[in-house]
Amino acid sequence: MTSRTTLSSWHALIEHAKEMKKQHMNDLFAADKHRFDKFSITLPAFLLDYSKNLITEETFNKLITLAKDCELEQWREKMLRGEHINRTEDRAVLHTALRNRSLTTMVVEGKNVTEQVESALIKMKAFSEQVRQGQWLGYSGKRITDIVSIGVGGSNLGPQMVTEALKQYSDQSLNVHYVSNVDGTQIANVLRPLNPENVMFIISSKTFTTTETMTNARTAVKWLTSASFDDKAIAKHFVAVSANKENAMAFGIDEENIFDMWDWVGGRFSLWSAIGLPIALDLGFEKFIELLEGAHEMDMHFTNTPLEDNAPVILALLSVWNCTFLGAQSQAILPYDQSLHMLSAYMQQAEMESNGKSVSWDGIEIDYPTVPTIWGEVGINGQHAFYQYLHQSNNVVPADFIGSVESVTPVQGHHQTLIANYFAQTQALMQGVNEEQVRADLKAKGRQPDYIDNVAPHKVHKGNRPTNSILMKRISPRSIGSLIALYEHKIFVQGIILQICSFDQWGVELGKSLAHDIEKELESTETNPSLDSSTAGLINFYKANLS
Ligand code: F6P
Repeated sequence: MTSRTTLSSWHALIEHAKEMKKQHMNDLFAADKHRFDKFSITLPAFLLDYSKNLITEETFNKLITLAKDCELEQWREKMLRGEHINRTEDRAVLHTALRNRSLTTMVVEGKNVTEQVESALIKMKAFSEQVRQGQWLGYSGKRITDIVSIGVGGSNLGPQMVTEALKQYSDQSLNVHYVSNVDGTQIANVLRPLNPENVMFIISSKTFTTTETMTNARTAVKWLTSASFDDKAIAKHFVAVSANKENAMAFGIDEENIFDMWDWVGGRFSLWSAIGLPIALDLGFEKFIELLEGAHEMDMHFTNTPLEDNAPVILALLSVWNCTFLGAQSQAILPYDQSLHMLSAYMQQAEMESNGKSVSWDGIEIDYPTVPTIWGEVGINGQHAFYQYLHQSNNVVPADFIGSVESVTPVQGHHQTLIANYFAQTQALMQGVNEEQVRADLKAKGRQPDYIDNVAPHKVHKGNRPTNSILMKRISPRSIGSLIALYEHKIFVQGIILQICSFDQWGVELGKSLAHDIEKELESTETNPSLDSSTAGLINFYKANLS
């Protein structure tokens, strides 16, 4: 397949970017009263305003042409049909099948995927109801009060982010805890206040080989069996979610207690599967289904809407525009809602593990900038931390601002202040304030000329910083489902435009395998002469200072 850089639409965008860099959004808004109407769309779950980007209709049309030249619609079809678009692992990519609430039949490689998903959901429903209603009893006959979900990366971030986002929807019949880090501090802190008689562990690992998860799972087993003095207690206190049933059983999990996953679900796209079990336990199964319905709604939008009006496509094209053509190197995810405080961490894994690559799907070195660093923090806290940089550094950081019209936890006066800041920040980032305005303002305040000369340059904000505003009506299982699916499809589209295989993650392997070798070094009294001097020096310091 030919490189994107040979496409005439790619070249047209390179040339167009040179012209657009000379423009200011203030002028674009002044020249067109209908800019917001042109560059915003309303979906059931949210409004997306992308008018505060450095784009014109010409830019937008050129981006759509690029998407068509990249055969985006055909690739979308291939993904949804279950073709092996995860080329390097030779797998289908079918997280959309997990939330196919239309229940349309999907047969992939002779297997009815819809039936597989439905029977997994039935099992999740039965289990979550038994536990929530106090019918599932621990080894000493007591009901389960605490869930400890053990998993890492995609087997942790999705469920944890969603349970945090939807906390107000939980009836709190169960306390849900998460353990992901191999640092024993985390599991020790989680287990300290708990009583083993009341705890249910969920071991979530697609591969059931991940060192961090297996280490935490073994510690959990020891903790339970040293209290119960009975190996049989494991069947009452441990379930697993895995595509590797054999390993889960070899670990000691009862076959009955294993929830299926499939190789066509990538870890970072898996919260819709039984990996989402902690969500169903926390919120109740019906709300888990509402989450799936919200995601399905977005899938339908993504599948059936022309590219020009397609929210994930628009977000992806803007990201490519801002990063590949205009040169931005990072992108901020800024949720103005405390319940979304884990969203940036979740998006960081989703986008950076998917598209943080520099070789095309044909194995050719990519010679254009690809995806940015994803980072962020909840508003308003971020405003008192790094917004100085967003407004005045010489790096432009495109940002997605996510807020909601109504708060699910209304405390008088709070939401209005929060949302006023949400609106003000995108306005400030776009408009800025020039030196003339700064000087006039200081003069009007009665400042002396010397003071004005000294301070004015520091108060200039160049503005012209791109943002998208995603304004939800209200956080709910359904709207959160739609929001996450929006970003999942955005990531897919970016991958297609940039010619990146978004569904593998080879880049995490090298560090993992070196860590295995180094564990052996740590047990040896000798220094391995083949180690580089830095790594050897660090290891020697560690060994010498072990008490
Ligand atoms: O970080 C690498 C990774 O492979 C992720 O893609 C995955 O979500 C995570 O580790 C956990 O993997 P598993 O579910 O197999 O334990």
